[in-house]
Amino acid sequence: MEIISKNLITVLQYRIKMEEESSRLYLAMSVWLEKHGFMGAAALWKKYSQEEMIHAQWVYDYLLGLSIKPIVPELSAPECDFDGLPDIIRRTLEHEIDITQQCNDFAKLAKEENDFMAFDFALKFLREQHEELTKTSGWVDELETFGTSLEALRLLDHKMEHYVNPNL
Ligand SMILES: [Fe+2]
Ligand SMILES: [Fe+2]
Repeated sequence: MEIISKNLITVLQYRIKMEEESSRLYLAMSVWLEKHGFMGAAALWKKYSQEEMIHAQWVYDYLLGLSIKPIVPELSAPECDFDGLPDIIRRTLEHEIDITQQCNDFAKLAKEENDFMAFDFALKFLREQHEELTKTSGWVDELETFGTSLEALRLLDHKMEHYVNPNL
């Protein structure tokens, strides 16, 4: 009997690729933000980018732990033109909703296959997604309440800087 099905290995390989592509997307956003003077937001998106690489690493470790060699995937080029900080916040939320759907599908497959070790691993991703959706939808809520004037965006940028560096 196999410890993990071929289908689940395929889903986990896809997870590695998607987490690494999320990391590249957030890096592209961070670069755009820094170029346009949003230093706090740039630092926060750089942190998001690094966190996505950690999620990919979870999967490498999971597969290696089962003596399966993961493939380091080829990545697509990320989008790198954005309309502003509000656009980046909204696109990040849309992206995290897509990723959450993928993690739901992963959990569903693990459950259907009665692979509860993989199911538990999928839940780890879903808990992480809940955290990320909470953070990102919080930024969207702030935009909706305080608007997108330069003053509002500057305050938001400053607040984001505090998220990365609470001692500031
Ligand atoms: Fe992630
Ligand atoms: Fe994410």
